[in-house]
Amino acid sequence: MLLNATVKTRTDTKTGSRTASRKDEHLRINIEEDVAAKGVESGFDDWRFVHRALPEIDLDDVQLRSHLLGGHVDAPLLISCMTGGTEQAQTINERLARAAQAHGLAMGLGSCRVLLEQPDVLPTFDVRALAPDVPLLANLGAVQLNLGVGIDECRHLLRALRADALVLHLNPLQEALQTSGNTAFGGLLARIATLCAGLGAPVIVKEVGWGIADDIVVRLFDAGVAAVDVAGAGGTSWSEVERHRMTDPVRARVAGSFAGWGIPTAEALIRARSAAPGSVLIASGGVRDGIDVAKALTLGADSVGIAGPLVRAAAAGDEALDETVTVILEELRLAMFCVGASRVADLQRDAHLVHRDGRAL
Ligand SMILES: Cc1cc2nc3c(=O)[nH]c(=O)nc-3n(C[C@H](O)[C@H](O)[C@H](O)COP(=O)(O)O)c2cc1C
Repeated sequence: MLLNATVKTRTDTKTGSRTASRKDEHLRINIEEDVAAKGVESGFDDWRFVHRALPEIDLDDVQLRSHLLGGHVDAPLLISCMTGGTEQAQTINERLARAAQAHGLAMGLGSCRVLLEQPDVLPTFDVRALAPDVPLLANLGAVQLNLGVGIDECRHLLRALRADALVLHLNPLQEALQTSGNTAFGGLLARIATLCAGLGAPVIVKEVGWGIADDIVVRLFDAGVAAVDVAGAGGTSWSEVERHRMTDPVRARVAGSFAGWGIPTAEALIRARSAAPGSVLIASGGVRDGIDVAKALTLGADSVGIAGPLVRAAAAGDEALDETVTVILEELRLAMFCVGASRVADLQRDAHLVHRDGRAL
């Protein structure tokens, strides 16, 4: 096991900062505590594929290879943005990067704000040498654009990390629950538009597990973002994660009330796809196996992200992570075979999903 269960809060020896200690707490809590949303589900279990006893393709015909923002990936599975900034985060990032390279998957890094403040933490994020051939995504809280971070800083991050795109996360509820969180979200869309126009690299916008409503998805694409990850509810709940960090019982009660908050991932995805038909959509939040991945692709995602299960596997080691990814990809491959889809793009054309209430997609 990577993390010492007795280490609750401490200042990381390498960076010596509160941000670093928060990152390690986030890792520990995500690995050891129950951080699942409660009272809201991703929605993938509400859908089942119509099995095709006669798929009319060979299993060997099934290919997972696809595209993400102009680059090739060997499968439409994305390692969602998670961590960086501490020694423990570095170990996790290196394991994730080795898995990304081995399986040809795109990989997101955790929020890189600390890197702007403390350049010496670069090695904890800098995994390009371990994953030279996959799309690598840097990450920042979008709210940082309201707090002095501009195009130059974003360019600097992409250059330092040799990253292909910048992911901005929208996390108003998480910031509101954090002590001294950054809650100045006013006027952010215009700043995102300015960044998209000037960065010279794709900007992706995601939530962190409460979903993005379809009208906001449309406004983000109008602002120039290259892709939106709806990052819906039903998986890791960041109000639950923050609740585990709280010592004040009143704030912990408030956080607990939001365990069921958010737009279920499947619902957010279906609405986003209908509102933005030709745009690049990523689905994440509560995706837990390769069959969920196949469902998300069929419901309109171009790529599908997973965070919590992969960080837990990575904490157990390279082998556990490799096995987890291998299982997910094999589940996806067999699901595609059993619905007669030999290509990822065929899923939306050939696969049939039926909802629990009887309606077909
Ligand atoms: C340990 C951990 C750290 C995370 N840190 C970030 C982050 O820095 N930036 C970000 O955009 N999302 C972050 N997330 C959110 C994930 O990218 C994802 O949106 C969310 O966990 C829902 O996906 P899941 O249900 O598969 O975990 C983090 C998730 C985990 C588990």
